[in-house]
Amino acid sequence: MQISPSILSADFANLQSELDAISNADWAHVDVMDNHFVPNLTLGLPIVESLLKVSPIPLDCHLMIEDPDRWAPAYAEAGAQSVTFHVEAARDPRTLARELRAAGARAGMAIKPGTPWAPYEELLPELDMVLVMTVEPGFGGQSFMADQMPKVQQVREAVRRHGGEVWIQVDGGVSAKTIEQCAEAGADVFVAGSAVYGADSAAVAVDELRSLAAS
Ligand code: DX5
Ligand code: ZN
Repeated sequence: MQISPSILSADFANLQSELDAISNADWAHVDVMDNHFVPNLTLGLPIVESLLKVSPIPLDCHLMIEDPDRWAPAYAEAGAQSVTFHVEAARDPRTLARELRAAGARAGMAIKPGTPWAPYEELLPELDMVLVMTVEPGFGGQSFMADQMPKVQQVREAVRRHGGEVWIQVDGGVSAKTIEQCAEAGADVFVAGSAVYGADSAAVAVDELRSLAAS
């Protein structure tokens, strides 16, 4: 069970100390938004390059951008340890996933709440992680969509059938109230933004979420 706090809810003027505050987490989740794929704009490659230099933990980059075929490999080449693209935006997800792995990153594929899983199952051998969104991508602090749990179960069953080691991540509205149902459905990597950075102690929140996920 791994916890990946989203720095979208951190103080953007103090990202280095905000990363240090979650050094007990497994990953730092970095939400890259381009104001095209989603109606919000955050940060891009230059800031990710700077974060890579100072982060005490590996970066889990979630690219909510158009044309990931063109842009995502650069994040892997920069040293991001995990790079996740949205299948809705990718022209050739198979080739893209292979390029991410070839550049040394874990390859992740994200699916929005309205996107079905079944058409993409054949991509599993190319992937290290599937991200099942539990909110519409674009903003932190939204309500958890429990209706995505059957999709998490479907992905878990597919991973079992294929026999590979593919992680299943959930992102959006994950908190102490919702993390157990995610784990029960088969998720094993949990993104939490407001639940971690909105807590009195981010590090304590990370430990609490991890133990709830494992319970
Ligand atoms: C939403 C982002 C999430 C976001 C989650 O589009 O992908 O990573 O930061 O924030 P919370 O945990 O507050 O829902
Ligand atoms: Zn995210």
